Amino acid sequence: MRYKANDHHPHLSAAVLQATAEAGANIALTKYWGNANDDLRIPANESISITLDRTRTVTTVAFHPDLTEDEVVVDEVRLSGPARERVVQHLNLLRERAGVSWRARVVSRNNFPASAGIASSASGFAALTLAGAAALGLDLSPCDLSRLARRGSGSAARSIFGGFVLLHTGARDEEAFAEPLHPPDWWEICDLVAIVSRTEKGVSSGEGHRLAPTSALHRARVARVAELNQRILDALARRDFAALGEAAEEDALLMHAVMMTSRPSLLYWLPETVMLMHRVHAWRREGVPAYFTIDAGPNVHILTLPEYADHLRTDLLALPGVQEVILCRPGPEARVIPNPE
Ligand code: PMV
Repeated sequence: MRYKANDHHPHLSAAVLQATAEAGANIALTKYWGNANDDLRIPANESISITLDRTRTVTTVAFHPDLTEDEVVVDEVRLSGPARERVVQHLNLLRERAGVSWRARVVSRNNFPASAGIASSASGFAALTLAGAAALGLDLSPCDLSRLARRGSGSAARSIFGGFVLLHTGARDEEAFAEPLHPPDWWEICDLVAIVSRTEKGVSSGEGHRLAPTSALHRARVARVAELNQRILDALARRDFAALGEAAEEDALLMHAVMMTSRPSLLYWLPETVMLMHRVHAWRREGVPAYFTIDAGPNVHILTLPEYADHLRTDLLALPGVQEVILCRPGPEARVIPNPE
């Protein structure tokens, strides 16, 4: 399967190391925001997420002896500048491991809007790591893959696994990897992703992580997240949705408080974001189990239980400014899939 004639470059010779992988985005219940080590992308705090079933990235990586530079195409657009450089750096990590110098062609497709607060970097770098490692024939454990994925994007370390996932932090690269807590079918939590904007965010999360320590609130948040993680572990074990939702919503607000009070200030919310936050609080007052969480963008993830999901989705779609609602559930781990024809 790995050796395949190259259809895109008929002038190139036939041998190519190629593999394709698929990975789901994830929604963090407690967030990774700020690094303990910027170069190695070791997170300042541990985080817990749900890998999602509906928001997925499929990536094909083909290493070829005749290519003179890495080519990266995401959603039909050929990347250049820093976005391409980030992928090249990641390919370099893989090449170093394999002792291979061949350049690669990377073709990646998201089935959801990239770079708008739905962690496309998580599914993207998880799929890239897995496809790249498979193409090069690297024999890596899921833990090794998670550590490698982390170097591309911290949240990608979690998307290697399915279901409910914990990302460790640590003093050294070896210590900062994700591990699965519960399989996807442990608990059918629904994540309604309300899209209010498809515009790419102005400040990347990479830049945001570097700014986090400039906020006076950063240290206080890191201390508090340790407690919230304990609550979430406990809530997951007991399937206590209110305890899980309260902790997740609190950390989303803490992270955005850090963002807003960073220097320069990062403000990802739009008026529609705040409107949805009020809506979720109103639902709770009416007795509906719904909690919000928001990543580095304006779109709002509404966590609820399956019996409320269809009703809330209909209500969300009727609100002004809500363009689309994607209903996600816990999804599987990243996996290698057959190469496209
Ligand atoms: O993996 P990155 O660098 O895109 O950072 C992820 C940042 C958040 O999505 C805001 C939080 C998280 O833990 O997913």
